[in-house]
Amino acid sequence: MSAAHISIDSDAIRRDFPILSRTVYGKPLVYLDNAATSHKPRGVIRALSDYYEGYNSNVHRGVHALSMEATDRFEEARSAVARFINAESPDEIIWTRNATEAINLVAHSWPQGNIEPGGEIVTTEMEHHSNLVPWQKVAADRGARLRFLPIADDGTLDLSGVDSIINERTRLLTIVHSSNSLGTINPVKELAAKARAVGAAVMIDGAQSVPHMPVDVQDLDCDFLTLSGHKMLGPTGIGALYAKRDALETMEPFLRGGEMVLSVTLEGATWNELPMRFEAGTPNIADAIGLGAAVEYLEAIGMDRVRQHEVELTGYALERFAELEEIDVFGPRDLSLRGGVVSFYASDIHPHDLGTFLDRRGIAVRTGHHCTMPVMGRLGVPATARASFYIYNTEDEVDLLVDALKDALRYFGNGPR
Ligand SMILES: Cc1ncc(COP(=O)(O)O)c(C=O)c1O
Repeated sequence: MSAAHISIDSDAIRRDFPILSRTVYGKPLVYLDNAATSHKPRGVIRALSDYYEGYNSNVHRGVHALSMEATDRFEEARSAVARFINAESPDEIIWTRNATEAINLVAHSWPQGNIEPGGEIVTTEMEHHSNLVPWQKVAADRGARLRFLPIADDGTLDLSGVDSIINERTRLLTIVHSSNSLGTINPVKELAAKARAVGAAVMIDGAQSVPHMPVDVQDLDCDFLTLSGHKMLGPTGIGALYAKRDALETMEPFLRGGEMVLSVTLEGATWNELPMRFEAGTPNIADAIGLGAAVEYLEAIGMDRVRQHEVELTGYALERFAELEEIDVFGPRDLSLRGGVVSFYASDIHPHDLGTFLDRRGIAVRTGHHCTMPVMGRLGVPATARASFYIYNTEDEVDLLVDALKDALRYFGNGPR
């Protein structure tokens, strides 16, 4: 089927991703596991080899040519990430290993002086474990209370009680922008305004939004936003924390050692400028540079078009899934409230069996709880299968998925209800 109305040229984009030409069990790879990790275009892979082959060196320390070149590329990548999310300054971008580490950095360094016993941390029932488990520890350590915005039946947040959940005791609202297991895009700007109105800080988990839609931290008016490079065409092992300068200025360092200090005596130390104060030790230079290349690739396409492509593809997928009466699809039907994630469950077929069946057709989906066990509890299923889209996915691939699911339903004896 042709995809003429789709707003980006996925066929041309596909040629930039070497892995997409491989086969799996003799079938062309249909990669629908982008919420777990995305593939990397040639430009990103080349940025890594260029660094190692051409100017491998440590940053911020050398006066020699290679070190200065590495430092320039490394800092240009930081500027690219800052530009991409419209941070006021590259100094507000702290390199981390991934979104999880970025969240842990905030959970480690921000609560001191900001969350007192009896204070409340508001989050949602649809958080990835990485934006839940660290706050459970903070709440336990500080005598604070965790409060949750519940999930409504349609997979959006139930905001009927929001004005009592976000109240004068709230110290932090920490919320996922786009859910990895339901696909829901949350009204983070409106919720951030509510949190601000009661004097609370705001953190947004952007792991699934920054790769897929325009995100502007100044417009959202958040104090913190976290992202993972590997979900946005970049390498693994690199992520970032965006933090407002005012917040960073008050926070204790996360890790201590080289690079993050200004002066050291045997008795003590003073801290370096931002952002280095939060980047102890030799950073992940190559992968930061690779993430810079990924950002440039996405910018060249345009994030509005990335989003539009996923809206169209998800709309098409929901239409085709409607043919599969035996399969329940979760998450909102309104495409403006939904990212490119389709989580589904066929009663009587365990998602792992379904995933294995699809794999034999070369179709990669994720099965399991997607690190959102409370969401599975809310949906009343042990796990789901999840197809998640990106710029290189096509309507043809959705057709292959739906056709394979029809075969699976026949194979597992779970034909039409
Ligand atoms: C919504 C969300 N938040 C956070 C994370 C954690 O990302 P990472 O494992 O790269 O740290 C993920 C990963 O799947 C995610 O989907």
